[in-house]
Amino acid sequence: MTDHLDTFRLDAAPMPDAHGRFGDYGGSWIPEVLVPVAGRIVEGWSAARTDPAFLQEFVGMCRSFVGRPTPLQVAPRLTAHAGGAQLLLKREDLAHTGAHKINNALGQVLLARRLGVKRVIAETGAGQHGVATATACALLDMPCVVYMGSHDIERQHPNVLRMELLGAEVRPVDEGQRTLTDAVSAAIRDWVADPDGTYYLLGSAVGMHPFPTMVRDLQSVIGHEARAQSLELLGGELPSVVVACVGGGSNAIGTFMPFAGDGAVELRGAEAAGDGIDTPRHSASVAAGSIGVLHGARTMLIQDDDGQVLPTHSISAGLDYPGVGPEHAQLAATGRATYTGVTDDEAMAALQLTCRLEGIIPAVESAHAISLALDIAAGRPASDTVLVTVSGRGDKDLATIMQYRAAHGVTSMNFADAGDDHHPAPGAPHVYA
Ligand SMILES: Cc1ncc(COP(=O)(O)O)c(C=O)c1O
Repeated sequence: MTDHLDTFRLDAAPMPDAHGRFGDYGGSWIPEVLVPVAGRIVEGWSAARTDPAFLQEFVGMCRSFVGRPTPLQVAPRLTAHAGGAQLLLKREDLAHTGAHKINNALGQVLLARRLGVKRVIAETGAGQHGVATATACALLDMPCVVYMGSHDIERQHPNVLRMELLGAEVRPVDEGQRTLTDAVSAAIRDWVADPDGTYYLLGSAVGMHPFPTMVRDLQSVIGHEARAQSLELLGGELPSVVVACVGGGSNAIGTFMPFAGDGAVELRGAEAAGDGIDTPRHSASVAAGSIGVLHGARTMLIQDDDGQVLPTHSISAGLDYPGVGPEHAQLAATGRATYTGVTDDEAMAALQLTCRLEGIIPAVESAHAISLALDIAAGRPASDTVLVTVSGRGDKDLATIMQYRAAHGVTSMNFADAGDDHHPAPGAPHVYA
């Protein structure tokens, strides 16, 4: 029996133009000193993505080390709760290290080794990409440095300990808001200082060409599996809607891409609306941003009228980023995908429901996607199917969850104390009690 990974190929995926542009977005807006190394990565990836030996090694590690394919399962009680379309969960939370980030990290460390580079650096927000990179570097014997904003170090502390255990050096970043965007800037500064000896392993589908394409390619293993598994589970049918959360956009673009040619399948991204998209405290770059340049790419950004990037907010460190991958900006501009803001409160309510109704503690990032999926399912007939990618597990988020609950007057972990029902009625609104 095939596990669908046998048929994983990258050569058919749509490519940006020769300058790495997806329509008006993308490109390579980089300092002169990085031009030669960026060129080597473009060439290296272009050769690797069509090399059967490289793909075979990647797929082999996905199977034996990551535990792929991850399951696609029906969520019966969330489906009953939404009271409409059937919900399917793509379980990236079950991938080794607890999130989709490992797919990209393994692929890029394999590329770094192929390019003969001796040292890997990375940035991280939620810490999942840092853990994934530290893991891949341990496995493939590469020294690893991870830049992380000191605010994120506080809110995602278990992941800092994991990275250190795996042998990585975690460098705190104290500039700016001390979050993901500052960590990316610090990593780029390190790279500029030694572009030939260092491989910068970007963790999302953002930044200069070829990172948005390369990260999408590697993460498209999610959508490749999900599409084949849907056909099996739904008797030859595809889901009506595919949903994923969007920080920089890697789990979403990896989920969407293999469905992009299926015109009848709606693609829906959940961005972090924080306190609300109509307040200054959110990270909804597509839904509420404008065009600008960040970290080497032209894309949708949260910025002021002078082009200064503005502070962002999300309860989830992984979605707390002022930009988005350029291919998402293009999918939004062409109307192929739609992006909707989900507030902190809505995400935390969906997280609570998923724990209680499905026995799954999702990452706070993933809970944004689940909230949007519940809303979409509620408005559709039972004959429709909504597939949502659960990008990661919530173990890293226990401190955030407890803080959130304390701020809402809940001091114990017993959800019944929050005044909510252990068995919420089908169709009941999923707002935090
Ligand atoms: C579990 C999880 N989901 C989603 C994200 C957002 O990243 P992306 O939009 O690149 O998938 C992160 C980022 O750290 C994460 O840890």
